[in-house]
Amino acid sequence: MSEEVKNFKVTIDNITLEVPPGTTILNAARLLGAEIAPPAMCYYSKLENSGGKCRTCLVEVAAGSTADPRPMPKLVASCRTTVMDGMVVKNITSEKVVDARNGVVEFLLINHPLDCPICDQAGECNLQDLSYGWGEVNTRYKFARRTFVREDIGPYIQLHMTRCILCYRCVFVADQLTEKRMHGIVDRGDHAAISTYISKAIDNDFSGNMIDVCPVGALTDRTFRFKNRVWFTKPQDAHRDCEKCCGKVTLWMRGDEVYRVTARKDKWSEVQSYDGKPGWICNTCRFEKKSASDWVIEGLTTISRYSVIGANKYKVKVTPETTIQKVMGGLKPNLLMNIHSISDVNDPDLHLSEIPGPADGKDFDIANEIDNHIDENPYEAENYNKEFMYKNLEK
Ligand code: SF4
Ligand code: FES
Repeated sequence: MSEEVKNFKVTIDNITLEVPPGTTILNAARLLGAEIAPPAMCYYSKLENSGGKCRTCLVEVAAGSTADPRPMPKLVASCRTTVMDGMVVKNITSEKVVDARNGVVEFLLINHPLDCPICDQAGECNLQDLSYGWGEVNTRYKFARRTFVREDIGPYIQLHMTRCILCYRCVFVADQLTEKRMHGIVDRGDHAAISTYISKAIDNDFSGNMIDVCPVGALTDRTFRFKNRVWFTKPQDAHRDCEKCCGKVTLWMRGDEVYRVTARKDKWSEVQSYDGKPGWICNTCRFEKKSASDWVIEGLTTISRYSVIGANKYKVKVTPETTIQKVMGGLKPNLLMNIHSISDVNDPDLHLSEIPGPADGKDFDIANEIDNHIDENPYEAENYNKEFMYKNLEK
């Protein structure tokens, strides 16, 4: 009789759950929802050995396990670290993580051009979302950006090496989905680039999946190039009988025209699985079936991620579960840009309508409030100070 495997208890951002041994922290966090799950720019659950490259998924392990509750000395990549029984993990509740993630995004953006207005990936780009969440408004980088000699990799896929963040996902697609590995990253550091071999892998029937896994606009669909913004298109689930792939796709339509065909994606921007297998699609379905009559249309696609791509698609948009309140229970949410903690101007306890005449600086100034009160009630100064302090600490 097989022995029952005992699940491990792990606490992530104050929420405890049980997962089977061998689960990574990232996948455990994904069970809790989109806000708790660390961002992942290189890990892709359908690609073996992916992860460990981009460092966006760093988390703090505040206690290693019940057996050894010491904290881990450094932040760890959650996509590559498995949970232990009794482990305590901090993601958005850790100042160290917030600081590190800001730094990682700043590094990713050093060389990534801010050309979202002309990039076909804009609106569904993971780096764009990451920059909104964690990026700085300005750059501190003063040196020349990386540039590359433009490379033509065939009629279907457009390579913009300057946008590449070297996540290796396309390398794994070439490695695991196509017959021959013709594709890799050459050189190191600032010179690292997707190799010229990519043009050889491009003939393969499944090479188009590189476009779907690329988290940025480095690999885009040449047949869709500059034709439309993704948020103006209407995504529809559709299928056809295909001898090479599962034939289940999303058609990105405007009116009756099919502008683009992609694999169907889940809320982590990964291809959905069917019968336990990833729903990769072949190049015939992706690039050659651009007529609505080629497809059986099933209905509007459900959009379940926070990104511009969901704009104007209220009917089919599924808002991801909000877990922020549970996570921040009992904590002052400084990490969430609580405007009241840095500015008294918007003090929620201050009723603007009750201020006689126009409001001015004094109405919002805590120091003035204390001074005025103490002037009027000199014998209560000590008590009032304490009371005032506690009131503001509770906020
Ligand atoms: S081209 Fe895209 S998928 Fe390939 S390594 Fe660069 S960012 Fe990743
Ligand atoms: S997703 Fe973990 S290092 Fe990139």
